[in-house]
Amino acid sequence: MDKLIIEGGRPLRGDVRVSGAKNAALPILCAALLTREPLVLDNVPQLRDIDTALALLRRMGVMAERDGQRVTLQAADVSSLEAPYDLVKTMRASILVLGPMVARFGEARVSLPGGCAIGQRPVDQHIKGLQAMGAEIHIDHGYVVARAGRLRGARIATDMVTVTGTENLMMAAVLADGQTIIENAAREPEVVDLARLLQAMGARIDGIGTDRLVIDGVESLHGAHHRVMPDRIEAGTFLCAAAATRGRIRLIDADPASMGATLDKLSEAGAAIDVDGDTITLAMAQRPRAVSLRTAPYPGFATDMQAQFMALNCVADGTGVITETIFENRFMHVLELQRLGADITVEGHTAVVKGIERLSGATVMATDLRASAGLVIAGLVADGTTTVDRIYHLDRGYDGMETKLAAVGANVRRSR
Ligand code: EPU
Repeated sequence: MDKLIIEGGRPLRGDVRVSGAKNAALPILCAALLTREPLVLDNVPQLRDIDTALALLRRMGVMAERDGQRVTLQAADVSSLEAPYDLVKTMRASILVLGPMVARFGEARVSLPGGCAIGQRPVDQHIKGLQAMGAEIHIDHGYVVARAGRLRGARIATDMVTVTGTENLMMAAVLADGQTIIENAAREPEVVDLARLLQAMGARIDGIGTDRLVIDGVESLHGAHHRVMPDRIEAGTFLCAAAATRGRIRLIDADPASMGATLDKLSEAGAAIDVDGDTITLAMAQRPRAVSLRTAPYPGFATDMQAQFMALNCVADGTGVITETIFENRFMHVLELQRLGADITVEGHTAVVKGIERLSGATVMATDLRASAGLVIAGLVADGTTTVDRIYHLDRGYDGMETKLAAVGANVRRSR
């Protein structure tokens, strides 16, 4: 299994190009199922999760070709309406084929994703919303089996803010008969990016970027050309790494408008931040100050940035209190950070991090994607060698992370 071997202690300096957003690209790829015409997508990141999504779509009979960062998809001849367990178990976002399939074909069989390292993550809201639109759904041998004539518009209020839930229901509603209102909709920039693509395909959606989406279904959608938005989590991860190592980096092709909460916390930590169009420059001249934060749906502080800020707090001046409100088991990195000498106490959903001057390198194990990113940041500031094991998690969601880190001066290499 691949490992990353990091010699810590070097400040990051230089330019990093931000890749396209994983969590925008995944639903956007699934939207190809909504039309028989081609979808041309640019800025699609090179990631394992994207490969999994393309494998899933191809398994269903969708034509999918990649040429660098461009992906062309065409779902003219869909041959299978099933998302099998072997693919869904490796990527929960596979559930995003459910809404488009039921909407266009009136039928779908999608394996239930099951639990995952960061929590239970049920899909009951996806199912409830589709049922409100007239789909008949039951669970059969671990699969969600859905059947419907043409879906009907409905008023849906989700019990909690759910990102992929909103995306699945929005993709179903665009082809439904009549008007759908999604209340308590997720406002994440990735949901907005999907909505913009759907509009380009001919969908009628109002309230984009708000918690109330009003969707007037159309008979059919057409092909479109879309550029996937920049990855705000990848961008934030590199900024945290630069801040923790007291470096100075410039991000190119970023989307600062989607990064308010992250940029505010980095300023609070003492970083000098300069935003100019799609570039963000961060310089940290001194030891960072500890920051406290609480994860929340957008525009609150993203749960996907929690582990990276915990790593920053580990070497900061003072004590930071981090509360995780989205996933019940997203502190798996704490035990690993403690192996590097971090002073962290966890009480329920809250972690109290007392900054220390230096972490000391050790072997640590990645448990999920963002936890891995936190461990890499910790390795970059630790004394000596840190080996981050099981980095297949990292490969799921970071496009060439070690190459980008090495280009800004990190001493990092992959060992197979
Ligand atoms: N939830 C339910 N029932 C549902 C749906 C969600 O109880 O039917 C709960 C979840 O268990 C969780 C909360 O609602 O406690 C929010 O979950 P959400 O549905 O928003 O998460 P998701 O859509 O499965 C996406 C991202 C995650 C990110 C979360 C939160 C994608 C593909 N994934 O997951 O990204 O952490 O939103 O922002 O967009 C990552 O990239 O590392 C990652 C985990």
